[in-house]
Amino acid sequence: MNFVAALNDAAAKNLQTLEEQIRGAIAEDSFIYEACAPLIRGGKRLRPMLFLLCANAKEILPHERTMPLATALELIHTASLVHDDIIDTSKKRRGVETANSKYGAQIAVLVGDYLFAKAFQLVAENDYGAEVSTVLSKLVKNLCVGEIMQDRSLFVVPTMSEYYTRINLKTAIFLSSCCRLGAIVSAMNERDVENLTAYGSGLGLAFQIIDDLLDFFGDEKITGKPHGGDLKSGVITLPVIRALATSDDASELKELVTRGKVTTADIDTAIKIIHATDAVDYCRTRAEAHIESARINLPLTLKTSVSLALEQIADFVVDRTR
Ligand code: FPP
Ligand code: MG
Repeated sequence: MNFVAALNDAAAKNLQTLEEQIRGAIAEDSFIYEACAPLIRGGKRLRPMLFLLCANAKEILPHERTMPLATALELIHTASLVHDDIIDTSKKRRGVETANSKYGAQIAVLVGDYLFAKAFQLVAENDYGAEVSTVLSKLVKNLCVGEIMQDRSLFVVPTMSEYYTRINLKTAIFLSSCCRLGAIVSAMNERDVENLTAYGSGLGLAFQIIDDLLDFFGDEKITGKPHGGDLKSGVITLPVIRALATSDDASELKELVTRGKVTTADIDTAIKIIHATDAVDYCRTRAEAHIESARINLPLTLKTSVSLALEQIADFVVDRTR
């Protein structure tokens, strides 16, 4: 299922404008445009769309009020991916060559910094106020802490609680902040702000668990990145954690994932071992439970069309293939 198919007409129209704004934001500098356009083209736009849906959930706000922040959210996300690919020395993202592979890490760091700075320029120039800046700053700080936590424990098996802390910092807080910002910009009451934040949080946890599954079992042509990338860079995720707790071959798997060097053959072995356990079902069941909690938190006071789109996004997150 395509994420955009989950959107109703009004949201799909927003998406068109958003695309133009994102292109406009990177077009100021020709090298930045050349470096970012292919990567930006492949994104799902989940973060800005969550923001836009929540911002327009009671009444439709003018584009001038919503588009700069929606664009900034996508730019922050893209900046974090550019930096993430440097850290992981990834060669492919969204089906295209990464900036670090194409231009080297030195230039790629600066491309990420540029996108990040552009995002904050958009926010500063559009008078969103201190509360919005605080939510944005905190989400970026959490993103960094999550990434640092991950990179300080490569090739180490995390406990379930460490895994959850990491995916919360890396993904759930970002998605919940997008919803929260939408609620803040449209001046919702505190209860609706908190409920939409909780919706985004459940959605984010499920999103990352499915992402971690797709890293092993996704179709490379659809995900746009090679299999086993997490294992190769030493990031141990839920499918492995579950298989280690239940597999007859747990000791072989443990040796393989903690050795410090993972070959393509090792990835195939790991996939076989994981596949022979209930890890895939286990991850899906957990993701579905977070989606259920997201759904329960959706405020009843939203426009029907927006509630429907947010419900459909929840379905998309567990059914997605990329
Ligand atoms: C992708 O997830 C990466 C992230 C969610 C966050 C990366 C964050 C940073 C590098 C720090 C923040 C930097 C800036 C400029 C805001 P993943 O590695 O789980 O997924 P993948 O398989 O798509 O790489
Ligand atoms: Mg990564």
